[in-house]
Amino acid sequence: MSGIRPTGFLHLGNYFGAVRNYVRMQEEFECFFMVADLHSLTTHPDTKELKENVYRVLSENIACGLDPDKAALYCQSHVPETTELYLFLNMLAYKGELEKTVTFKEKVRQHPDNVNAGLLTYPVLQTADIILHRALYVPVGKDQEQHLEMARNFANRFNHRYGDVFPEPQAFNFGDELVKVPSLDGTGKMSKSENQNATLYLSDSDELIRSKVKKAKTDSGPTEPDSVKPDIIENVFSLLKLVSAAEVVEKYESDFNNCTIRYGDLKQQLGEDMVKFIAPIREKAAAIRNNPAYLKEVMEKGAEKARQSAQATMKLVKEAMGLNYY
Ligand code: TRP
Repeated sequence: MSGIRPTGFLHLGNYFGAVRNYVRMQEEFECFFMVADLHSLTTHPDTKELKENVYRVLSENIACGLDPDKAALYCQSHVPETTELYLFLNMLAYKGELEKTVTFKEKVRQHPDNVNAGLLTYPVLQTADIILHRALYVPVGKDQEQHLEMARNFANRFNHRYGDVFPEPQAFNFGDELVKVPSLDGTGKMSKSENQNATLYLSDSDELIRSKVKKAKTDSGPTEPDSVKPDIIENVFSLLKLVSAAEVVEKYESDFNNCTIRYGDLKQQLGEDMVKFIAPIREKAAAIRNNPAYLKEVMEKGAEKARQSAQATMKLVKEAMGLNYY
């Protein structure tokens, strides 16, 4: 089970860090992937753009390979059992521990005038998303590890107080070395919010991709054979490895090692390979986005599967809690 925030556009970092993992998981596990529209209300109370964002993020994820016939793909608010379980879990979550959450403290700093109770209990809602399906594995990035630890705590607390209902969920990845997708300006990773010119979005036009890649930071090149690559050059090579053929990578590795490398050519090649990688996803996402009947069907089918699983869990929850009246 995993949740996808409906804010911002999907970028290359999301693809290699998360979506590719989801696509692999759907082949091996019973999966639930959910668009977290309720979570977005904690920081985006204005819902003018919400629907469009939900449709877009769904379209983009399907274009990347998520298959509504294999995994349940649904929208959080279509499964009201989520909010019911959230309420029960709120009685087991303490103000002190919630206030210590790193993401909460960050958001308080970013929006000091909107420190609402939903923001404080964000990890409780996330726990409800996960344990509602009694999920074992949650594919998430490093930034979500604390939330997962809290989910384990809340699940265990429920089990101790009312009886064993929930297994412990754990963060999941396929154990490959964690793919890092560096930003094009040599500072950190590609990111939804920071410097959009250094991030390649799956919705970028061919021209925009080429021009962003062309501006990637490089230097004047190695002066000694077999030098260690400076970080900014290592970054460009990391991107090349993600989308270019092995021979291409080898050619530029050896050009680097014998000091004949021309970064203009390297970036030209990288730009073209990025276009080849991104354009089909962009086009597929646009076609899906322009097919409301299909999106509606996907969301209905996903919600149906998710609600079945949720209702089975809620039955156990209410029996355990003694809320099973005649
Ligand atoms: N908090 C997650 C994020 O910021 C999104 C999310 C919501 C989620 N519910 C979830 C992730 C359940 C995993 C499981 O990316």
